[in-house]
Order: sequence, then structure tokens, then C-alpha cells
Amino acid sequence: MSEEIIRLEAVEKVYQVADTSIHALRPTNIAFRKGELTLIMGPSGSGKTTLLSILGFVIYPTAGKVFYGGKMLTNLRENQLADLRLHEIGFVFQQFNLIEPLTALENVMQPLLLQGKDSKSAREAAGKALQELGLMDRAKSLPKKLSGGQKQRVAIARALVTNPAVLLCDEPTASLDAKSAAMIMEELKLLAKSGKAVIVVTHDLRLRKFADRTIYVEEGLVSNTITDEAYYK
Ligand SMILES: Nc1ncnc2c1ncn2[C@@H]1O[C@H](COP(=O)(O)OP(=O)(O)OP(=O)(O)O)[C@@H](O)[C@H]1O
Ligand SMILES: [Mg+2]
Repeated sequence: MSEEIIRLEAVEKVYQVADTSIHALRPTNIAFRKGELTLIMGPSGSGKTTLLSILGFVIYPTAGKVFYGGKMLTNLRENQLADLRLHEIGFVFQQFNLIEPLTALENVMQPLLLQGKDSKSAREAAGKALQELGLMDRAKSLPKKLSGGQKQRVAIARALVTNPAVLLCDEPTASLDAKSAAMIMEELKLLAKSGKAVIVVTHDLRLRKFADRTIYVEEGLVSNTITDEAYYK
């Protein structure tokens, strides 16, 4: 078994909207390991993004404990969490979230510049990351000149350039055709094999063949025992 990286113990999230409480995530115990590609599936509104946001230290749970590399995070201050996010976590989204006026290379450089790296070393590392994703010939292209699959590979390069231990992806293939989606999943699988914990939210059952395990979320309840039939009901 490879090393555990994130653990949730009795973690819950309740959103308070006016006088209604929305129980977005019911008490959840779950662990994620390096070297593993995990899919998170479930209907719209079931709590997938909420779970992913807790795993990425974007939101705090309402209750429960979050451990990162064996260390409990629940009492960290906002700036410590932001720091952890910047160094340990890479994010990939459905809509790529690239900065339009910047080239592919400049987009990939951004997290390093945020970390305070100088632009020469940021440029070098960004070039390497693009190369790993087979995009070196696109380094100078603006996002609008790239295909969806290429944009998503740039977004993955940007997520990876800081060498995070964890890669969190929210519907990374939802805007892509089947062929590009498969390429992206192969890429994510390779990254998991290289020792990262890769966690992917998706609605697409066909992606399960790329995963080491699949977790289902339904009405805020996390389980891994729901059958396909139940999922499609
Ligand atoms: N910031 C928020 N404030 C209030 N309620 C929220 C907030 N974010 C999410 N929710 C609610 O929490 C529940 C879970 O939302 P979440 O975004 O985690 O679902 P999801 O599974 O990612 O859905 P989708 O597949 O549509 O992206 C939903 O009922 C949603 O309306
Ligand atoms: Mg979502």
C-alpha cells in the first residue's frame, strides 16, 4: 500500500442560507493515497464539489478533522491553508480557467510566480511541464488558439508545475470530445502512477476504467458500494 496523503475523519459541511441549512456533506471518513487515481461520482448537487473543495483546503468543514500527510489541519489559519494549497495541491477545472491574454507558457508560470520564484526559473520549469504534456510547440500560443484538449493539457501543466502531491480535478473532461477526454485520463493515470494522489470528479461512467477506485456521493453521503443501476436510477 502506498503512503496516505489526505484523511477525513467525521468531516461534514453544512451551508447556511438564510434560515435553511443545507447538509452538503454528511459525516465522512475517507482516506486518499499517493499513487492512486480516485473517481468521485454522483448526481448533480450531491456534494462532489464540496468534498473536493474540502480536500483542496478551499473551504473548511463545519465539523470533523482533516489530516494532510498525517498532520491535523483543522486549526490552521487562513494564510497557512493558502500556503499549503499553493504548494501541495494542483487544481484542474472543466472550463480550464486559463488567463486569456497570456500565452500557454505564461499561464503555466503563474503558480510559480505566486510562490515568489523569479521569472527565469519559472519560465524554465513551465517549459519543462509543457514538454511533459507534449505541448512545447504550443508554448507561445494564446489559449484561444488551442483546442479544448490542448487547453486542458496546459491547465494540467499549470497544476503540476509546482510539483504538488495531490491533483484535484473537477469534471476535467466534461468540455472535451471522447478522444481528448481519453487522452486527458491517460495523462492523469500516468501522474498517479508517478506517485501523486489524483482525485477526479466526473459524471462520466466510462472514465471508471482509468481509475484505481470509484467513490459515489449521493445527497451528501459518501460510499463506494452503489451499483451502476442505482447510479442511473
Ligand atoms: N456556497 C454554497 N452556499 C450554499 N449552498 C451551497 C454552496 N455550495 C454548494 N451548495 C449546495 O450544497 C449541495 C452540494 O453542492 P455541490 O456543489 O457540492 O454539488 P455537486 O455534486 O458538485 O453538483 P454538480 O454535479 O452539479 O457540480 C447542493 O445542494 C448545493 O446547492
Ligand atoms: Mg460540482
